[in-house]
Amino acid sequence: MHHRMNSADIYGMNSIGRNPLRAGIADKTRQVLQVVFKNRRYTIMKIVVIGATGTIGKAVADALAKRHNLVRVGHRSGGYQVDLASPDSIKKLLRSVAPFDSVVCAAGLAKFGPLKELTDTDFLLGLSNKLMGQINLVRMGLSHIADRGSFTLTSGVLSQEPMPGSAAISPVNAGVEGFVRAAALEMPRGIRINAVSPPWVKETLEAMGMDSSSGMPAATVARAYVESVEGAKNGAVIDARTFS
Ligand SMILES: NC(=O)c1ccc[n+]([C@@H]2O[C@H](COP(=O)([O-])OP(=O)(O)OC[C@H]3O[C@@H](n4cnc5c(N)ncnc54)[C@H](OP(=O)(O)O)[C@@H]3O)[C@@H](O)[C@H]2O)c1
Repeated sequence: MHHRMNSADIYGMNSIGRNPLRAGIADKTRQVLQVVFKNRRYTIMKIVVIGATGTIGKAVADALAKRHNLVRVGHRSGGYQVDLASPDSIKKLLRSVAPFDSVVCAAGLAKFGPLKELTDTDFLLGLSNKLMGQINLVRMGLSHIADRGSFTLTSGVLSQEPMPGSAAISPVNAGVEGFVRAAALEMPRGIRINAVSPPWVKETLEAMGMDSSSGMPAATVARAYVESVEGAKNGAVIDARTFS
């Protein structure tokens, strides 16, 4: 039976009786704030979604917003802005939205193009933006994230299944996956970290004017991110195709 959430479903209202969905509470109260949604009980979290105005990130934020407090971050749009290529910008964002329970990053630039045409600048784009940007989110986010919180980063299937044109993207995606596996070994306070590896997204292929029949809808890709945030996985690279 479809179960619509209402205030009676919220457990552990905070002491001043505010609706915790609006209150943006993390950390100490995290264990007692729960909702029942579709007959399952969830802990309400404050989740920061980077790239929340993008194709994948919007679908992820919309899916998580059904049960959690969302902070939607874009680059030029969104409720908050960040530039992944700038450590100062990341630091400033994290300070302004802290404390939080989870960080999801569905952003990161890297250049697609023929190997013989790729320049140093093209390679550096992926390294400084998608790879170091996401690594810095974790390094700088650690001092603000709640106990038992989680980080979810984005790689892409080109890490394991390259194609002509992916010479600057494949190593970046593989780097993100390597970082997640290694960093999981050193996460303190029960904090988890995973990467989601999306395949080509249907809406992206459509926007590029390409055959989208083999693409995965962004809403389906989003299920892999929800699994990372709400499940128990740690140090995992979650292939979004397992959710099709
Ligand atoms: N779409 C696919 O088929 C696919 C497949 C595999 C992997 N991926 C990976 O998934 C991630 C998201 O892809 P997408 O297709 O959803 O991207 P998208 O639709 O182009 O959206 C990008 C998002 O990132 C933000 N952004 C842009 N530049 C940024 C910067 N310098 N710092 C921080 N945020 C920035 C954008 O904000 P504004 O809207 O404010 O500009 C937007 O919210 C990327 O890492 C991509 O490599 C995508």
